[in-house]
Amino acid sequence: MLQRPRGTRDFLPDEMERRRAVEANLREKATRWGYREVCTPEFEELELFTIRSGAGIIGEMYVFEDKGGRKMALRPEITAPVLRMFVSEAKVLPKPLRWYYFADCFRYERPQKGRYRQFWQFGVELIGADTPRSDAEAILLADDLLRAAGIPCDLHVGHLAPMKHLLQGLELGAQAKAMAFLDKRDFDGLTPFLAGIGRDDLVPRLRDLAHARTLDELFAVTGEIPEKKRIGEIVEILDKNSLVYTLDFGIARGLDYYTGMVFEGFAPNLGAENQVLGGGAYRLAHLFGGDDVPSCGFAIGFDRLMVSLGEVKADRKVRVAICTTEEGRIRGFEVAKAFRDRGICAELDLLDRNLGAQMAHAAKAADFAVILGQREVATGTVTLKDLQSGEQKVTPLDTAVAEVAARVPR
Ligand code: HAM
Repeated sequence: MLQRPRGTRDFLPDEMERRRAVEANLREKATRWGYREVCTPEFEELELFTIRSGAGIIGEMYVFEDKGGRKMALRPEITAPVLRMFVSEAKVLPKPLRWYYFADCFRYERPQKGRYRQFWQFGVELIGADTPRSDAEAILLADDLLRAAGIPCDLHVGHLAPMKHLLQGLELGAQAKAMAFLDKRDFDGLTPFLAGIGRDDLVPRLRDLAHARTLDELFAVTGEIPEKKRIGEIVEILDKNSLVYTLDFGIARGLDYYTGMVFEGFAPNLGAENQVLGGGAYRLAHLFGGDDVPSCGFAIGFDRLMVSLGEVKADRKVRVAICTTEEGRIRGFEVAKAFRDRGICAELDLLDRNLGAQMAHAAKAADFAVILGQREVATGTVTLKDLQSGEQKVTPLDTAVAEVAARVPR
């Protein structure tokens, strides 16, 4: 038997209904904040992703050469494609642009629960705004989306400036390495690394930075820094909006386009792969031939969110099973259409089963049975049976449709 590719999943109808219900909530919420959907290609020129991060990330991507010899990659994330699109299609539109996407990404990772090679992100990009309020909007929107999805989440909010301030004496490569250790809170790795370049004096301050949970604690480590006012303003907005979050200046983020505020969300009921969201303020447009437009955004890992939600059932649609004797088979199509035209799901038997077998199937799969036998065909009526209560009556088709329609939740 052929297997699906490693790190991918198949989704049966029950699971798709659950996913679509959550997705609909996220879309609805993002729309209320003024965000509009965009869509970019599933594959892009490889350079789009290496231009900022270097060739190092090729190992984490699905890279291929197309028949014209061009180096391409399946998108590992959607921020770079969206900013590429912004530069090529939309740079003259009035700013800020509020865009969202729901789409799949591909990363060549070691698969485990919550970590896949194909996964979906629900993300937003706020392009062309660079104020404490744009930073705060991204964080508050993320919180609102996670609430709409129904998952509790610990939000951690930070800023790259304090970390960069402490590391400013190091050359860029060493800075990036130190930030990667800090992001993982890996002091066992960080300490020998800094000792190796003669800067183990930084370790205690970096440790204090990663543990700072208030602005006072933060600025006690860094002293005055130019971003002090901005960080204070972001915090003020979040607090005035009663957001529950943790200040965390140890966040460095894995992707290297971030420039200022950064934030992440963790689902407490997930295991190792518990980060359900990540984002921050960044600059990318200038790398793709545009002006240096500031942006801010985040992406929710939709699959992790679904794992965190657990086995919640989606609201099932009301279903009608049309059960017919031989005489009713042709009229069955017309009857099914009348229900569908009212937005009700109606299914016909296609297997030539007898009425008893059709009713037994309907009892498992539907909420109502509409029976079309010799008598109903002769009189132009239908028999409507409520499969929950067992009540049934002979009625004109219109009445049966209206009765079922009255039971469809609005
Ligand atoms: P990211 O942190 O790389 O950020 O990914 C965002 C989220 O996608 C993660 O927090 C995680 O929930 C989910 N995710 C990542 N890799 C996997 C995987 N292999 N399997 C399942 N879920 C995964 C970005 O991608 C940025 N583009 C976010 C952003 C938007 N920054 C600014 N705007």
